[in-house]
Parts: sequence; C-alpha cells; structure tokens
Amino acid sequence: MLVRALFLTLVLLSCEGQNVDLLSNIVDSARHLVNDITKVPIVQQVSQVSGDLLAQTADALTTIPLAVARSLDLNDIIFPMFISDSNVVELTDQIISEFNAGLDNEDITLNITGLVTKYGYPIERHQVITKDGYILSVYRIPNNGSVVFLMHGLLGSSDDFVVAGPECGLAYLLFNEGYDVWMGNSRGNKHSRQHLDLDPSQSAFWDFSWHEIGRYDLPAMIDYVLQATRTNKLKYVGHSQGTTSFFVMASERPKYNSKISLMVALSPVAFMTHVKSPLVKLLAPGTPFVHSMMQILGVYEILPHNSASRILKRMLCGIGPVAEIICSNLIFLLIGFDFGQLNVTNLPVLYSHIPSGASAKQFAHYGQGVVSEDFRQFDYGDIKNLDLYGSNMPPSYNLENIIAPVSMFYSEADWFTDPRDVDKLYRRLGNVIDLYKVPYDHFSHLDFIIAKDFKTLIYSRLRKLLKHF
Ligand SMILES: *[C@@H]1O[C@H](CO)[C@@H](O)[C@H](O)[C@H]1NC(C)=O
Ligand SMILES: *[C@@H]1O[C@H](CO)[C@@H](O)[C@H](O)[C@H]1NC(C)=O
Ligand SMILES: *[C@@H]1O[C@H](CO)[C@@H](O)[C@H](O)[C@H]1NC(C)=O
Repeated sequence: MLVRALFLTLVLLSCEGQNVDLLSNIVDSARHLVNDITKVPIVQQVSQVSGDLLAQTADALTTIPLAVARSLDLNDIIFPMFISDSNVVELTDQIISEFNAGLDNEDITLNITGLVTKYGYPIERHQVITKDGYILSVYRIPNNGSVVFLMHGLLGSSDDFVVAGPECGLAYLLFNEGYDVWMGNSRGNKHSRQHLDLDPSQSAFWDFSWHEIGRYDLPAMIDYVLQATRTNKLKYVGHSQGTTSFFVMASERPKYNSKISLMVALSPVAFMTHVKSPLVKLLAPGTPFVHSMMQILGVYEILPHNSASRILKRMLCGIGPVAEIICSNLIFLLIGFDFGQLNVTNLPVLYSHIPSGASAKQFAHYGQGVVSEDFRQFDYGDIKNLDLYGSNMPPSYNLENIIAPVSMFYSEADWFTDPRDVDKLYRRLGNVIDLYKVPYDHFSHLDFIIAKDFKTLIYSRLRKLLKHF
C-alpha cells in the first residue's frame, strides 16, 4: 500500500513536508470537489439546477473517494519509476526546473500546421465528410513513398504524432524515410468539430462512441486517402483507441481489410478486463461516478473545461508543485505516465496540444468493457438493446472477420492495455504477424507516441515491419 500511495502523496510530501494520509486527503478533495462543482460553467448553464439536483450530485461525488481508494488498492499497478522515499525532493526539484525551462517554447502557441512548417516539413489539410454528416480534418505530410495512415487515441488528435518534435515524432520519422504520411482526426476532437446539420452545442452531436468512429470515420478517411493518392492499399498505424476503432471497422465492415496492407497496433485496446487506470475503472457501470454525474448534469462532451480537469486533478493528485506539473493534464490522470521516458521540458508543448475533445460515450463504452469482459457494441440496457440489436445483450464484435495483417506492440506497465488482455486479443485474431513487448517495464500508454527513446524502443521495429509490407 505504501508504494501505491506514494504517487499520490508524493506531491503533498514535497510541498508541505509532512505525511498526509491518502484517504483523508481524498476525502478532503471530495469536499472541495462538491464546492467546486457548483462553480463549473456547465453546471451554471443548466437552467434547472435545483437544490435536489445539487444534492444528488454531491451524493454521487462523495462516493468517489471510496471508489478511488478501492481502485488503487490493486497489486498490479506499476507506478512511475525513480520515486522512492529517498529521492522525492531531488526529483521534485529536477522536474520543476526542467518544466520551467520549457515554458517559453514558441511551439506551445503553434497549431499542427505551424509546428510542422516551423520544422521545415510540408503540410496539407484535407476535409472528409462521413456518411452521417461529420466533417473531419485529415492532415498530410506529403512525400512520394507509400501511404501510412496514422490514427490517434482517446482524447488525442493528429497532433499526437508531431508533438514529440522532429527528433522522435512518428510523423517526421516516417516522412524522413519517404512515406506519404496522413493523420486522421476522429469526430468530436478539436480538428473535427463540424457537422452538416448538427452543432457541438447539441447533445445529438456527441451521441457516438468509438463504434461510430470505426464504422464511419475510418472508412471515410481511408477511402479519401486511397482516392487522393490513387492507390488501393495503405499501411495503418493506430495508437490506443486508434486500434479499437480499427478493430471495429475491420470486423463490422470487412471489405476494408483488403485496403490495409499492414495494421500496426501501438498499445492495442479491445478487451478491457485487466485495465489498471483508476479513472476507467470508475467509469465502469455499477460505479456511480462520471456516468451518472453526466446524466444528472447533461454533460455529453467529456471535460471540455479546465475547471473539470482541475477537479479531477485535485481528486487524484492533491496539491503541490509536481501535481501542478504532471497532474494538470487529464491525459496523465487517465492513462498514467512514466518519468523515465517523459521529456519534461517538452511538457508545456504537449499540454497545449493534448487532450483534445471526446464524447462521454467513448468513455462509457470502454467502461462497459471492463465489466462485460467482452469486446462488443454499446450496451443501452435491455429495452433499447432489443430494439436496436434484436437481443437483450449487445452483439460482440466479430474478430474473426479481421483478416488484414496485424502487428501488436504492448508493454507491461500500460494502464490501459494489460498484457493479459493483449494475449486474449492475440488468441482471437487469426492474422497477427508480430507480437512485440517493449523491453522496458515502465513504458506507459502515452510513451507509445512520446517516449524519449521512441526511436530505439518502438521505431526501429516499426520501420522494419513497414518496409516488409
Ligand atoms: C493554424 O495557425 C495559423 C497561424 O496562426 C492559422 O493561420 C491557421 O488558420 C491555423 N489553422 C487552423 C486549422 O486553425
Ligand atoms: C522521391 O523523391 C525524392 C526527392 O524528393 C527522390 O530522390 C526519390 O527518387 C523519389 N522516389 C520515388 C520512388 O519517386
Ligand atoms: C525534449 O523537449 C525539448 C523541448 O521541446 C526538445 O528541445 C528536445 O529535443 C526534446 N528531447 C528529445 C529527446 O526529444
């Protein structure tokens, strides 16, 4: 328990210089949380916030500390390395000074076009309209080699593949080898917030999970890219949800398998049984967390406001300088991190580009997978399921339909993708041509795109695979 609690208390230790009990800290945070929630703009906007509604909200929220504590009381979470009782202060100082050194980096203010141009690469922006009316932006770093299509993860965007900078950003490395690099953006993220008829202020706009991303967004973008480049196959590299949505597409719309010469899954996410992320566990049905909060408050887009992130941060990290730095970004709270591979100087740039938006339903759908231990369509409850699927239970994805060659990269410490779940997926797919466990135990979910040693730990193998297919 000590080790597990250390991450959370580290920030307090380093700031106040006194040992603060984990639970009392969390309970305290919850009290602040209830105070803060009333100040969240979204709550204020809901016209009929009555005393009752607020009381319900407070109720839902006070159950958080227990759920957090329970989630954390797991033996299999690997916490960030380099943290021990003896080096806390030293590490804190180092993180703070590295972070401060990066604060006046011009890249913080540049969008993807500005960034890529600054480093001397060409970039194009394309727009693709899905069958159900979403207008998606696709970015391209054009070259004359074969096409590689990159698809980001949950709360990510095309920016994920360039934020690490020209030294280790995947898009740059691929371009340097001659590949024609295309980067997708799923509906709802910051580059794809337009629709023919709907507006992001309407809840109907947010009525999608990664099922729709796989069913509509990926096919539309892939068809567009193949047509624009006059080829009939491309190489697909997905990270996290970029793999989930691929598996949805390849099983639900099997004719797309023939358009893929190789699918590279960086941290593949399909089965969620052993997920370690406390936040994802909290979202699992049966735990009265964000899902009910979202229903009560009518929040459909997840964490669009800084205030919401602030609340989560306080809940999971407490206060203090390191919390300010690491935990101020939702992405680390959600999927964990690893100091060993983190370029702290580059964090300000990372923070200005990640997270991008997502729908609450994407989270809920993942949460359902934790409980069902299955990879299947969204569960709407018996009545709507029957109506929609013709059965009480949502249908499982037909993984046997996936016949495009797949290569999978995974790691031991990943909070989202547990090796046991990867193994289960591997056994279900008949076409895995490479299964690679990153030879670095603390490699985190985000390290698959931003690790300092990306070139040696990921790219050297990825490169060989791409050459081969
Ligand atoms: C990116 O930034 C540039 C320069 O500030 C601006 O002209 C451009 O419109 C931006 N692109 C998008 C898609 O917002
Ligand atoms: C691609 O372009 C580079 C120069 O930009 C050239 O050296 C190379 O031969 C071209 N390759 C192909 C396959 O056309
Ligand atoms: C770390 O980030 C800084 C600032 O963005 C950058 O100059 C440096 O090259 C990065 N280091 C690596 C190994 O990418």
